[in-house]
Amino acid sequence: MSRAFDVGLESLSALVANPAPANGPNQSPTVAPADGGKSFFIETFGCQMNDHDSEKVSGVLLGRGYRAVESPAQANLVLYNTCSIREKAAQKVFARLGDWKTTSNGKIIGVLGCLAQQEGEEIFERAPWVSLVCGSASYRRLPDLITDLESGGRRVTGLDLDTDETFETEITRRDNPFRAYLTIIEGCDYSCSYCVVPHTRGPERSRSSDSVLAEVRRLADAGYTEIQLLGQTVNSYRDPSPRKWNFVNLLQAVAAVPGIRRVRFTTSHPNDFTREIVEAIDSTPALCDHIHLPVQSGSTRVLGAMRRTYTREQYLEKIEWIRSARRPISLTTDIIIGFPGETETDFEETLSLLSAIQSDGVFAFKYSPRPNTPARDWPDAVPEEEKGRRLAILQEHQRRIQIANNELLIGKEFEVLVDARHSARDQWAGRTTSNRILNFTSPHGNLLGEYVQARITRGGPNSLVGEQLL
Ligand code: 5AD
Ligand code: SF4
Repeated sequence: MSRAFDVGLESLSALVANPAPANGPNQSPTVAPADGGKSFFIETFGCQMNDHDSEKVSGVLLGRGYRAVESPAQANLVLYNTCSIREKAAQKVFARLGDWKTTSNGKIIGVLGCLAQQEGEEIFERAPWVSLVCGSASYRRLPDLITDLESGGRRVTGLDLDTDETFETEITRRDNPFRAYLTIIEGCDYSCSYCVVPHTRGPERSRSSDSVLAEVRRLADAGYTEIQLLGQTVNSYRDPSPRKWNFVNLLQAVAAVPGIRRVRFTTSHPNDFTREIVEAIDSTPALCDHIHLPVQSGSTRVLGAMRRTYTREQYLEKIEWIRSARRPISLTTDIIIGFPGETETDFEETLSLLSAIQSDGVFAFKYSPRPNTPARDWPDAVPEEEKGRRLAILQEHQRRIQIANNELLIGKEFEVLVDARHSARDQWAGRTTSNRILNFTSPHGNLLGEYVQARITRGGPNSLVGEQLL
């Protein structure tokens, strides 16, 4: 295979020599306009896996001579990389597709990702101006699908889920110059009763450790110092090569690559969360002191109905391992509110679990029934209004926990990788290794991309304020 490489956004201008023609939606006649150029625009919905898939899809297109443009109006090929985890996410995509109902002439409109897989050819029925529907398990076929489109194909699909391959590209257009995403495992072999992912992303497939490490080395050569390993259940990683590494072996090898200062990973499944992961973080400074470990509910009864494969007590035991580490490890989690049959008592158990685990962040979602999932038609649905009430209570409960914990950090020092500047507030912003957002003042000029030490002066619910240590 030829050498793969990475294109940061900043170097795109060199790769993409000519700016795109400023065509309005009506003025883009074919996929190859008179100047012979081919241009694309991709909008991404949903999770980090989708963000990174879009980076790889962009790489495929750049490798085929397409130019990236800044608006869909300028593009010949408009792609939506979609999410269907909750009903709202799916509705948003259909609203976006609706924008092209009368204005798509000549443009190729494509739907990628989870909604594509979930709805399949139905999308052509609902939006006949769409020409490409492709789920993530078929991204390896994208070059062929695009060739089909270029040679006049009207409706092309990639909807096969039966694969043991992962999507690797020779070029990846990385949008974030500070943190490089890297998928190590795709799909999911769990079958949580509320979740579309096993249906939209297919069975679990791990990438070989050689291929992962080669990419990490390339990223280090390209100047990246922070890597985020991605997977729906990232810690279920099993090296398919004869080395047969487990997740911890891979973590340690990635952290040992010269030039790599921070390694993150998301999302971990509690069932595959081992003590060894905590020990590896404890003993390896480059492994970030943050774990995202979705619990979904604090009630063992609800967890059973969700088919999460662990009890409240088993989850709490894993949190105990994390809390007894020598290095303080930050924790975040996900909660689903109002799963069918969730009683007030179940909900209170979720609140008490949040009090017990003292996490630094909670992503809480109202349960949304999804197609092709067992829980979709289950009885005892919690009314929307009640879900909203519980969500508001949970958010306030968690807000207090975060304020109290962040106030305890006043006076402490953290290393920050600076990734933004807020001119109006005269502050720099970045993330600590524990993934906390830290806004801080500094007398220095350009700090973007730098690692600096800062001391906390104030703690809010969702971020910290501080000053650079000089
Ligand atoms: N309804 C609400 N939230 C959901 N999630 C997954 N499926 C659903 C659903 N049907 C949430 C879970 C998961 C996060 C990514 O999205 O909390 O961890
Ligand atoms: Fe969905 Fe459960 Fe798989 Fe996570 S582990 S992606 S919630 S099925």
